[in-house]
Amino acid sequence: MKSQTLLEVPSGDLKVLSLSHAQTADNNDFTESDKLELSCSIWLSLVLPTYNESSNIKDVVQLLTSLLDKAELVNNYELIIVDDNSPDQTWEVAQALIDDYPHVRVMRRQGERGLSSAVIRGWQAAKGNLLGVIDADLQHPPEVLLNLLDAIEQGADLAVASRHIEGGGVSEWSIARRFLSRGAQLLGLIVLPKVVGRISDPMSGYFLVRRQAIAGPTLNPVGYKILIEVLGRGNIEHIAEVGYVFQERQAGESKVSWEQYVEYILHLLKLRSRGRIGHLRGYLRFPMDRFIRFGLVGLSGVFVDMTMFYLLSDPTTLALGLTRSKIIAAEIAIINNFFWNDFWTFRDVSSHQKGNYQRLKRFIKFNIICLMGLILNVLILNFFFNVLGINRYAANLIAIAIVTLWNFWINLKLSWRVTEVKSKY
Ligand code: GDD
Ligand code: MN
Repeated sequence: MKSQTLLEVPSGDLKVLSLSHAQTADNNDFTESDKLELSCSIWLSLVLPTYNESSNIKDVVQLLTSLLDKAELVNNYELIIVDDNSPDQTWEVAQALIDDYPHVRVMRRQGERGLSSAVIRGWQAAKGNLLGVIDADLQHPPEVLLNLLDAIEQGADLAVASRHIEGGGVSEWSIARRFLSRGAQLLGLIVLPKVVGRISDPMSGYFLVRRQAIAGPTLNPVGYKILIEVLGRGNIEHIAEVGYVFQERQAGESKVSWEQYVEYILHLLKLRSRGRIGHLRGYLRFPMDRFIRFGLVGLSGVFVDMTMFYLLSDPTTLALGLTRSKIIAAEIAIINNFFWNDFWTFRDVSSHQKGNYQRLKRFIKFNIICLMGLILNVLILNFFFNVLGINRYAANLIAIAIVTLWNFWINLKLSWRVTEVKSKY
């Protein structure tokens, strides 16, 4: 076996250049040999970040290769493995694959570390017009790549594999893990609605993006979530999402720890504090029709609540206690609202998720979000009344308006979204 050379690790800013820029003669960012190499551009550069994946790397390379060769991309793609000097020598195992798989390129990083920066370093060394990333542990099913490629061919600037749309799901995640994952998304929706709200699975690490859409700005990701950075700083107009089921790990282990959650929050805040977000083009228009329907359903809920409250608490009827009456009346109103929202406001969405189990899940999410809305309502009311000294009824109106928007937005993004738990393959 002849020893194969490793890719040089790019240094300096984490910035992807456009291919034409890389080729210009007076560009000092590149050496002559870099320029020559970059000028032989290809279609797809797929980065596989690795840390201790020696037991998976061969399988994933083999699966991707046979898939892409069949997709008529022979000689028109490369697989770039970016390994952070793994103690299990993943880089060495990967290097040994080059003899059989000449479109594999390996980068061994010894200075820097971290998933997001690994991906960008890989893209910096890439020759493709289309840049992509996939986990190297086979939790991202390779065949979904073909759907992502299709989506790009049909004009998307960014094609994201998503667990939260039709055809998507997770394999055997615990309630706790799903709750954490959704909690992180909810936080993202609150801190960075324009970025995180654009896609159903902002945590995805499986996507393709056109080089021109992210060439230019220095990327500055913190921790794990590279997609948020691409969305926040790139120039992305058309997004496509493709469903996929996140598989269970067969070998090796996950590197996710508590740190990643903290890093994620810092990342959101950092992107938030940059002015660039406001310049986003093509940002999803506010779905006014749906909001009006949601508002009408909300009004019907007020009517149901009042009627039930009267029937339960009035001395001439059931004469239950005030609090008990209120809780029952509110819950019946929530059931009423859910029913109308499911069959009317979000009918287009729910018709794709048939079955009582799916409906029950939507109902539970709706309930939780409404409950959070109620708490928010009380907090806002108190703030406007006690802190700002605004008239109590005006304060209540403001609180209701804000909470209606909250309920609508969060339900739109979380409740009427599919995530199925599916068994393997
Ligand atoms: N180079 C490098 N450096 N690679 C890393 C590092 C690092 O510090 N940490 C993790 N990786 C590699 C892993 O070897 C694997 O190929 C991939 O990145 C994902 O890491 P996992 O540790 O397996 O993460 P996970 O399964 O929990 O991951 C994922 O969560 C998402 C769903 O929310 C993310 O990695 C996403 O890709 C995924 O979609
Ligand atoms: Mn994984």
